[in-house]
Amino acid sequence: MSHHRPTPLHSSNHAGTPALTQEELKALVGQEALRYVKPGDIIGVGTGSTVNHFINALGANEILCKSLKGAVSSSEATTVLLHKIGIPVLEASQVDRLSVYIDGADEIDHAGNMIKGGGAALTREKIVASLADTFICIADESKLVQTLGRFPLPVEIIPMACAQLIRRFKQIGGQAKLRLKGEQPLVTDNAQHILDVTSLQIKEPQAFESLISQWAGVVTVGVFAHQKATLCLLATSTGVKTLEFKSLGT
Ligand code: A5P
Repeated sequence: MSHHRPTPLHSSNHAGTPALTQEELKALVGQEALRYVKPGDIIGVGTGSTVNHFINALGANEILCKSLKGAVSSSEATTVLLHKIGIPVLEASQVDRLSVYIDGADEIDHAGNMIKGGGAALTREKIVASLADTFICIADESKLVQTLGRFPLPVEIIPMACAQLIRRFKQIGGQAKLRLKGEQPLVTDNAQHILDVTSLQIKEPQAFESLISQWAGVVTVGVFAHQKATLCLLATSTGVKTLEFKSLGT
């Protein structure tokens, strides 16, 4: 991984300057991500509050926004926002490749491996990410970790496999809980359920992702190691840092 000099913040944290809120940090990287969108592109767009800032920034840049041929969206929620700023939303099956995929993360480690799915959109996110040459992760510094696993790992599952998958996670030391919306299981955009798994320390993300992906009833595990970030725009109190990651192949 290489660290670049942070882009200085305009408020530059002089004595007496209030520190930026997490929301302001997210807005900062949302804006910064525009640098990776080229006029005429078809882009992949992720899901979540940080990406929402990116979409707002794109909407505010009329020339760039109008030039785009379209976007492939990772969720119904993102599709609504893209339509609002006038970007045509294409199906993943309509494109062969995307130059760039821009998305947030729930955690990212120093090699670019991520946990994603806090917003329940992990399956479509992984599909769109796998179409892209470059994965730009946009995140605030609270997301950077040494080892993945502090954030409960989302796993999209086929509902009938729920009990047996909870048992399998227990065998490897994880506590899996069905995600609820109100009193009912949350239903994803793909009409499936989500398990959130705590007490894991994911030291070998690629091997872990491969293992869990083979379990019967797992649709998608929220570890993104085979589709890890190419680079991360990380908003810190001293500015936006660009972390570049080595590709290890899959
Ligand atoms: C959505 O399913 C997730 O993968 C998001 O990318 C992740 O939860 C980050 O969201 P925030 O930008 O809201 O923190």
